[in-house]
Amino acid sequence: MIILACDHAGYPLKEEIKKFFNKENITTIDVGTYSTDSVDYPDYAKLGNAKVLESDNNIGIFICGTGVGMSICANRNPKIRAALCWSPAIAALSRQHNNANVLVLPGRFMTKRKAIRIVKEFLTSQYEAGRHAKRLKKLN
Ligand code: RB5
Repeated sequence: MIILACDHAGYPLKEEIKKFFNKENITTIDVGTYSTDSVDYPDYAKLGNAKVLESDNNIGIFICGTGVGMSICANRNPKIRAALCWSPAIAALSRQHNNANVLVLPGRFMTKRKAIRIVKEFLTSQYEAGRHAKRLKKLN
């Protein structure tokens, strides 16, 4: 399942990404926020983390203004590997090398078109394990 989380600065891009998933008939769980009224990103990163961790197959897409706050907060949970991505190549590598389970996007600094390309790449890329597995192990 895909879990969406954002603050007010990430809300417009989250809505665009949600529209994309709806068009593709892909179900998402949206933990908020649900408007551009000011909120605090840690509240939504925590809600998103909790949902992502309900299943190993879950993937999160978290969005704030820069992506930095969401990344810092999401990564405080040792089971979350949140990757702030600004290109499709980095999104693919974050899955292949880092087994990222959360994609973070900078809502105020990214077009809808680029965001969708990044989302597609993130969702279709697979963890390669191999030499990367021992590195991930060292994180814990
Ligand atoms: C909100 O103004 C902004 O600070 C937040 O969305 C994010 O960019 C923080 O890292």
